[in-house]
Amino acid sequence: MPLPPICTTFEPYFLLSDERLQDIVNHFRKEMEEGLEAYGKDVAMVPSYVTGVPDGSEEGTFLALDLGGTNLRVCEVRLFGQHKFELKQQKYKVSEELKEGEARVLFDYIADSVDAFLTEIGSDISSNEPMHLGFTFSFPVEQTAIDAGKLLTWTKGFNAKNAVGNDVVKLLQDAFDRKHIHVRCSAIVNDTVGTLLSRSYQSGPALIGAIFGTGTNGAYIDKTRTVKKLGEDKIKEAEAGGQHAGEFMVVNTEWGAFDNGRKCLPVSIFDNKLDRESINPRKQAFEKMVSGMYLGEITRNILLHLIDASVLFNGYSSKTINTHYGYDTAFVSAVEAAKSPEDVKKLIISQLGVDPKHISEGDPEIVQWACRMVSERACKLAAAIIVAVVQHTGNDKVPEGEEDKGVDVGIDGSVAEFLPRFAERVDETFKILLGEEGGKRVRTGLAKDGSGVGAALTALQAKKAMDRRTEKDSQFVPGKKGYNK
Ligand code: GLC
Repeated sequence: MPLPPICTTFEPYFLLSDERLQDIVNHFRKEMEEGLEAYGKDVAMVPSYVTGVPDGSEEGTFLALDLGGTNLRVCEVRLFGQHKFELKQQKYKVSEELKEGEARVLFDYIADSVDAFLTEIGSDISSNEPMHLGFTFSFPVEQTAIDAGKLLTWTKGFNAKNAVGNDVVKLLQDAFDRKHIHVRCSAIVNDTVGTLLSRSYQSGPALIGAIFGTGTNGAYIDKTRTVKKLGEDKIKEAEAGGQHAGEFMVVNTEWGAFDNGRKCLPVSIFDNKLDRESINPRKQAFEKMVSGMYLGEITRNILLHLIDASVLFNGYSSKTINTHYGYDTAFVSAVEAAKSPEDVKKLIISQLGVDPKHISEGDPEIVQWACRMVSERACKLAAAIIVAVVQHTGNDKVPEGEEDKGVDVGIDGSVAEFLPRFAERVDETFKILLGEEGGKRVRTGLAKDGSGVGAALTALQAKKAMDRRTEKDSQFVPGKKGYNK
């Protein structure tokens, strides 16, 4: 059945033309450069003080803590070398009250969860030394060292008071100390940095680690010298072999905040509504079009609009559709995976709670259309942002005289994992933006458990640096030759 004409008026905001995509790539490259030059920019480009990626030979047992996705996760990670690891984990729910209450209460809860984990699961780490813990804290943090950094702003529905501006490692360590828990937080790591490290540990050197989950963000390897805002002294110190010696530095882009100024992203009335009703209006503009926390909500706004225009469900809504964040991205994925309009109709009844008597013959197709629009745009934007990073580092071309090893991107998160055809759609867009051959050179692969393994690897790097401040033969190897020209 043909779609109601009102639908087609919204398509340009979702079916992005090649030119528009290219424009988005260029804008992001510009914002990356701005963030590398100065502090306080929308795209924060946070230096992580991680100076390379692992080669898979690393060994040791570490605790890892992961805050910033759906749950709080506490893990014990055993790195065996030879690219192998084992992970024991326990998930703990973070209630809305904790997310929006006092930071001290949130951090006490985190410390209690670590304590409960150590008691319930038992730990293989036996020593009088405090246990080393890597803290995957997946929010924008302005890091000043591998184990220090101030929270810049909350994202993804968190809004705990008295945390912004404070050192997150200190907030956690104080909570451990208050409770006499013998654990030392030796590294703070963003989940994207963790994903980059974990992908490299498991399957060889990667250039980018990206999350397409509740939120979205990416980290990549750059030349320390490119992070101009560090200042010439710090850069020289790093290059000459200071505390964080390294020609290379992993940079956490915080690309979720790309185009907060709305200069190039395709902002529809549905995106505006979502933003206005969010707890962080005018922030995380890119994230709100791409990540799992929001894709369901954008389609809900579209469906509501079509219901109000009386072209869907005969003008009747349901309690679920009327509820803010009434359903999540899993619905979009389920519709995208549905084989027939009959299957979509079943989902509309079971998951959206629409009364079957209000569902007309063409309605399932309209719902399918809305879900497809929103998913297509998310996948294209995901690909565009990766292409911008590849171009920024010069890796869109094969370095002269070198073998072409392509570019590897480790990816994690519920959208990447569960949204049907995510990887295919991203690959198609790579080819649009980089050409057939250029597009094929960029390979993405799921790097599961990035936040656990990555935190352990970062804790290892921090511990080694602590044990022997001047050690030169760190097991961490600098970014693959040719990544940074
Ligand atoms: C949000 C956070 C960022 C994190 C991303 C994915 O964008 O600000 O730090 O990496 O979500 O979890």
